[in-house]
Amino acid sequence: MRALILAAGLGTRFRSEKAKVLHTIMNKPMVWYVYQIVRELNIRDIAVVVGHQAEEVKKVFEEKENVLFFYQKNPKGGTADAVISAIDFWRDYQDYLLVINGDTPLVKTQTIKNMQRYIHLVEEYENVKLSALILSSFLPDPTGYGRIVKDDQGNVIKIVEEKDASFEEKQIKEINGGVYLFYSPHLLSVIFSLKPSPASGELYLTEAINLMSKRGYIVRSFMAEEQVEVMGVNNRWELAIAENVIRLRILEKLAKEGNTIHQPETVWIEPDAKLESDVEIEPGVAIIGNSRIGKGVRVGRGSIIQNSTLEEGVIVEPYSIVRDSHVKSRAVVGPFAHIRNQSVIGEESHIGNFVEVKASNIGNHVNAKHLAYIGDATIGNRTNVGAGVVFANYDGKRKHQSYVGENVFIGSNSLIIAPIQLGSYSYIAGGSVINKNVEEGDLAIARPRVRIMKGKGKEKLT
Ligand code: UD1
Ligand code: MG
Repeated sequence: MRALILAAGLGTRFRSEKAKVLHTIMNKPMVWYVYQIVRELNIRDIAVVVGHQAEEVKKVFEEKENVLFFYQKNPKGGTADAVISAIDFWRDYQDYLLVINGDTPLVKTQTIKNMQRYIHLVEEYENVKLSALILSSFLPDPTGYGRIVKDDQGNVIKIVEEKDASFEEKQIKEINGGVYLFYSPHLLSVIFSLKPSPASGELYLTEAINLMSKRGYIVRSFMAEEQVEVMGVNNRWELAIAENVIRLRILEKLAKEGNTIHQPETVWIEPDAKLESDVEIEPGVAIIGNSRIGKGVRVGRGSIIQNSTLEEGVIVEPYSIVRDSHVKSRAVVGPFAHIRNQSVIGEESHIGNFVEVKASNIGNHVNAKHLAYIGDATIGNRTNVGAGVVFANYDGKRKHQSYVGENVFIGSNSLIIAPIQLGSYSYIAGGSVINKNVEEGDLAIARPRVRIMKGKGKEKLT
């Protein structure tokens, strides 16, 4: 089978500068989902009709080697004009061509497989060659969709677009889902005979069905398993609804694979995220981009994990953010921690309350439990970073690195001014401002001495 994706349209109803099919669902362009469906069908010959913002749309299809692009000169020409634009893709094809609208991201792969099967069954048992099979559904409110008109035998006579439908036709609840299997030679025999719609001036692909039926070709409709599969995303509210459907589908799959999702209505996990099993996701969590969540990880309420890896047994306490970073086994992060810019947190380390870690490499069993900023630093195993410690990595012009050895103790409220090196087993007394290297095993203290004036306090207060 070959597949043709229609993605040239403007999407006027989106009221957007951006082409409709580029608007995102769970951070992926809508048409990416259509592409995935086609890929899951193992279809090798894929073509996409592009027009409006063609270059941007092309970028969605990563494996361009397998995908051919055809340019529709007039992206307002209509869906049949789009199919004609790709005529070189299917003119000589002697089998069924899957034509799929770029704005139907909710169709299931299995449904299209079932359509293929239905065509074979009809051929085998009824001895009928179908010229087209149209994905359809009965919708309580079919407004905006093409209505499917059938004869007494249940064959499709025509599809009437909303704009052209009579009052009676508008009462029909069976709608065209915008996914078709066309027997290519029969499509070819009608496609150049279509007349533009008087209402819009567009060439409608649905008009091809009417012509096929007039020529005595047999066209049928095929009921989608779920109503929502036929949904065309034509405005931003439909986009929001489609996003919810896809979001819940992802969560359902993850839950059935053995992960706990608390309050799924509040959880956002994007398609590229991988959960390895027995993961526990609390309410309000977002897992964004290419993230890998290891076995037994718990991600606490309200946390955001983006393009990051959390290894086995990691605990992310509530309201923490981990971006572009790697947290190793059984480390604990948060609550209210922020880890970013390619940081690595070692095994069983603890990055606690209001601690920010930026572009730093933290060893194993390191503790930084309260109110610290660690930027551009390398910190050895078992080092302790006290409350309120700040690594001053920026001198107003450039960023500098700090190197801290193993088993170092950095007392609370110290300021470590980079570039600097603190040797292993060095000890920084609390409240120190350190701008010189400290060698292995030494103690550094840099703070004013305390002066005690006997009785002076009470004197001032009375
Ligand atoms: C279309 C169908 C309608 C069906 C509905 C299902 C037609 C005439 N109507 O209507 O029967 O119920 O889908 O969702 O086909 N496109 C192009 N070039 C164009 C116009 C559109 O490539 O000139 C692409 C769009 O990018 C889009 C797809 O075709 O991905 C469908 O176009 P759209 O304008 O959304 O058609 P609908 O009005 O929704
Ligand atoms: Mg549409």
